Amino acid sequence: MQEFIQGLPKVELHIHIEGSLEPELMFRIAERNKISLPYASVDELRQAYDFSNLQSFLDIYYQGASVLLYEQDFYDMTWAYLEKAHAQNVRHTEIFFDPQTHTDRGIEFEIVISGIHRALTDAQQTFGLSSSLIMCFLRHLSEAAAQQTLDQARPYKEKIIAVGLDSSEQGNPPEKFKNVFETAHKEDYLAVAHAGEEGPADYIYQAIELLQVKRIDHGVRCMEDEALVRLLRESQIPLTVCPLSNIKLRVFDDLTQHNLKQLLDYGLCVTINSDDPAYFGGYISENYLACEQALSLTKEDIVMLAKNAIKAAFLPDARREALYLELDQYVQSC
Ligand code: ADE
Ligand code: ZN
Repeated sequence: MQEFIQGLPKVELHIHIEGSLEPELMFRIAERNKISLPYASVDELRQAYDFSNLQSFLDIYYQGASVLLYEQDFYDMTWAYLEKAHAQNVRHTEIFFDPQTHTDRGIEFEIVISGIHRALTDAQQTFGLSSSLIMCFLRHLSEAAAQQTLDQARPYKEKIIAVGLDSSEQGNPPEKFKNVFETAHKEDYLAVAHAGEEGPADYIYQAIELLQVKRIDHGVRCMEDEALVRLLRESQIPLTVCPLSNIKLRVFDDLTQHNLKQLLDYGLCVTINSDDPAYFGGYISENYLACEQALSLTKEDIVMLAKNAIKAAFLPDARREALYLELDQYVQSC
């Protein structure tokens, strides 16, 4: 099964590029930028990755991102993720970035997007790995700040497929960002939002109804509301589930308690993703494999999860069909 999962052509739909910054690269970039990290070594930093909830993770995650100053730093971080993704047979990836994490430190929007985008172009050329960028607003900040970020993105609009919403969920409901999402829709961005990770099922409703999202990121707390589960099944609004993240951030006690298999069996469009792989102990293959083992997923379940991700991706028809074909051919050859 490990071999089957490794070779499976995969699509990833929930990965924060800042969350792919491995400690080794973080230290290397910190050194060349003459920034001192409050940890003596890579090992000491890794030991700090013991989280009690989402906020305890976010505090360390924002601190980690503070080493990124120059275009080359954003390139190197993104390229490292893309090499890893390619090694795990990721064929298409939709990547979140958090401009405010950088612009609030005085880094130009242009530096951030240029470095990330140059790596994406290189991965398309070198690996045939296709990708898009999703710009997330930090929900612990104001709607006005999100609006300002949307304004800053305007010259780079062709490089961004969708807007998203991330950071501290509880107390920052989707409705807080209703107006900025409305503006984003008018400017032809697609929309997604983190909802129902730590926050209640009602935030998932709000994201669907008020923000008009095409996918829900996480969404695992939907099961607290039967009517919502029915809505998600009927509408096939996808959930980008991140199993190892949910364990590290204590959304579930352990992976055997995770509701991914139940959601899949109910017929929801569930996908598997890595979220912040440098912090949560695994990239996409490790997420698939850990679920296969803890939840006794069958080969059919795994193929369904991979198909769901192709279905849920923001792709032109031709690329989507090519990915379905590649998956079918792989399954037949096994
Ligand atoms: N930013 C990075 N990872 C996140 C997560 N799991 N939830 C909310 N915001 C995030
Ligand atoms: Zn996330």
